[in-house]
Amino acid sequence: MSLSHPAAFGAYSGTGHANGETKPRQHVLDLDDFLPSEIASVLENTRAMKEVLKRDIKKVPTLRGRVVVTLFYEASTRTRISFEEAGKVLSADVINMGGSGSSVEKGESLLNTGLTLQAMGVDILVVRHPHAGAPNFLARHLPKVSIINAGDGLHAHPTQALLDLFTVQEKLGSLAGLKIVIVGDVLHSRVARSAMWGFAKMGAKVTLCGPGTLLPLDLLRPNGHLPEGHCLASVKVDTSLDRAIEGADVVMALRLQSERQDSGFLPSMREYIRRWQVTESRVASAKPNALVMHPGPMNEGIEISSGLAHGDSSVIEEQVANGVAVRMALLYQVSTVVSQASGRLSIEQ
Ligand code: CP
Repeated sequence: MSLSHPAAFGAYSGTGHANGETKPRQHVLDLDDFLPSEIASVLENTRAMKEVLKRDIKKVPTLRGRVVVTLFYEASTRTRISFEEAGKVLSADVINMGGSGSSVEKGESLLNTGLTLQAMGVDILVVRHPHAGAPNFLARHLPKVSIINAGDGLHAHPTQALLDLFTVQEKLGSLAGLKIVIVGDVLHSRVARSAMWGFAKMGAKVTLCGPGTLLPLDLLRPNGHLPEGHCLASVKVDTSLDRAIEGADVVMALRLQSERQDSGFLPSMREYIRRWQVTESRVASAKPNALVMHPGPMNEGIEISSGLAHGDSSVIEEQVANGVAVRMALLYQVSTVVSQASGRLSIEQ
């Protein structure tokens, strides 16, 4: 099965699960190497960070003297702005950098860009990149910097998955045993890949649902199942949306990447909307208190109806709000190893 390919990237394990013990992690690359206890700890810290965000003056000195760079080679609203806000609330010095306007435009490689930032004393590098494995590559080559993956190609989007987990846990109390249905363009979704790992590790039951052409092929093969006991062995696939949604606790619609329409994945947009749009009438067969989620950005009227996206069961805006607190928790967590990695003296305030 090739749902996620950490081995293909020579994934750097920043976790150090020696003898089953969890050590502070230097990097956040995907959720596949997180222990459930570690995910629980991030969610717990997120709760504390949310309290900070409710204060009149949203500022704590936790990351004073730390330098955070957001290095985004792809467009973003939610992830980039929430990392910037998270860093600033924690008193870090946050610098935003994109491919455009930097020496990347002159052909500077990813490695040389990373080495340059490391030489300048950057502590935490938040990276979004169109190529799967780019954050893992930087983690292997920049020993003094913490790397946080803000979305790489079709591979992973771990911070999105953690904010999704937090939102569901906050609303429904617990993740274990919940039925989570992820609908749409699963094949091209890094959000779905990381969410699958996160929800499965916390004991939820994930169903992936979409047209056969937009589901990972391995999952559709009769022999594509993982051995019993594997974390993802409980993940189900269903090509009937009505059947999948029945009794669901959470229905998460994924963005249909419009370029797919011209690539032979879909008969037509009208057909996709008719068969796969998540609507009020379809969600009526989910549990009465079911949550409707979307990672954003949304194509309203395509993968999700406008009424549902802005209706009572929608937690889409709460997902965005929780993104700030989750990213504060992650910046805080990796910062505890940054000073050791850079060989700096830690002079606490
Ligand atoms: N969900 C998400 O990653 O949104 P952005 O592309 O706006 O960051």
